[in-house]
Amino acid sequence: MGHLYRMGNVVELQHAVLDHYMTIARERCSTTQEFRAAFGHLGQILAVEMTKNIAGEAKVIETPLEATEGFRMHTSVAIVPILRAGLALVDPFVDLLPKSVVIHLGMYRNEETAKPIWYYNKLDEQAPVARAIILDPMLATGGSVVVAVEALRNFGIDQVEVGCVIAAPEGIHAVQEFDGDVDLTICKIDDRLDENCFIRPGLGDAGDRYFGTA
Ligand code: PRP
Repeated sequence: MGHLYRMGNVVELQHAVLDHYMTIARERCSTTQEFRAAFGHLGQILAVEMTKNIAGEAKVIETPLEATEGFRMHTSVAIVPILRAGLALVDPFVDLLPKSVVIHLGMYRNEETAKPIWYYNKLDEQAPVARAIILDPMLATGGSVVVAVEALRNFGIDQVEVGCVIAAPEGIHAVQEFDGDVDLTICKIDDRLDENCFIRPGLGDAGDRYFGTA
């Protein structure tokens, strides 16, 4: 998959199929059903990209014709959706990594302060894993992802990555300032945050559009 943009540990994906489904996700006139389907495909593209270097081991196997070298991946990966909208991206990752664990982190953004408010944390009940992939379609101010990264670091997880559908430059900088070792993979980096801390041009509120609660 080609990379349109790479700066430090930030990758913005370039893919014509992604552009197609991103357009459906952005369009105001898309139905809930169309929005969900588009997010499913964007999640597939993110999942393929973010797992391209997954750890594993070489293994000699027999094809029907001869021996050759194969590869078996290790699956000590935690998929960490930030509720609610992060749930929209979980299935494509679990499909590719069927033995992964899913750790739900619940928070919403206070509409006046734009600060994240915790309401659920499944982290304490999980066995430690080496690698965690935070999923949140929207990286706006970055506040939600920063507190998720902080929680995972405090839990002792070494490799923390983030997968997003759209991100504002302000949110990317906030995550990088908080922790320069976090890799970010983003379908599209948008122009800016507006005065209400919404991503522009954006796609509206991903959680409301995905769950039909707008
Ligand atoms: C939205 C979005 C992110 C967060 C991004 O969640 O899904 O989680 O805000 O903003 P930030 O980068 O400024 O923290 P929202 O509060 O709308 O909750 P929802 O997913 O339940 O709709």
